[in-house]
Amino acid sequence: MNETLNTILKRRSTRQYTTEEVKQEDLDLILEAAVNSPSAMNSQPWHFTVVNDQAILQEISDAAKEVGKNHPDKQMQAMANNPHLHLFYKAPVAILISCKDDAPEGLLSCAAATENILLAAESLGLGSCWVQFVELLFATKNPIADSILKKLAIPEGYSFNHAVVLGHKLSDTTPPKKLKSETITYVK
Ligand SMILES: Cc1cc2nc3c(=O)[nH]c(=O)nc-3n(C[C@H](O)[C@H](O)[C@H](O)COP(=O)(O)O)c2cc1C
Repeated sequence: MNETLNTILKRRSTRQYTTEEVKQEDLDLILEAAVNSPSAMNSQPWHFTVVNDQAILQEISDAAKEVGKNHPDKQMQAMANNPHLHLFYKAPVAILISCKDDAPEGLLSCAAATENILLAAESLGLGSCWVQFVELLFATKNPIADSILKKLAIPEGYSFNHAVVLGHKLSDTTPPKKLKSETITYVK
């Protein structure tokens, strides 16, 4: 099997990280992979905010969990009420992904960029995890969200949607995953 397919098959969400920082040269390569993603009508509707500041990540995690406590979904509520859960898994760095509000199929293009980030990280031997939960905080107007958004300096006309955390994996095994059956149809 070639290296690209190996990377795709080996990638899993990592939720336990060492405290080792991610090298700037690796971050640069990961972001280069992100900005080279396909996008609807080549709109490139993304903005990436790289956050190493653990105080900001903790603030977002705490505030998003507060909002999640009132979520209609019981599983989301359980996560929000888990005092041990840090939504960014204490990873050394998070890339926050914002999408241009008026872009055609903007979120789909941003999702494509996100997958490139996950695969680039895996190819460099780093762990990663897509973190959507934090979107809850910014989906409704509230003063904590406004104050955090100010610190993040996301460009006008873009809205934060989700994040990817990155770091060195505590364990490098690829946990087996039960794959759904009947997800592929051939029409010949
Ligand atoms: C749209 C989307 C949202 C996700 N949000 C979260 C999240 O908020 N927190 C989390 O720990 N994982 C999140 N994940 C990761 C999924 O839980 C994970 O991809 C899935 O369980 C499959 O496992 P794998 O990534 O190890 O193959 C998200 C993944 C996607 C694609």
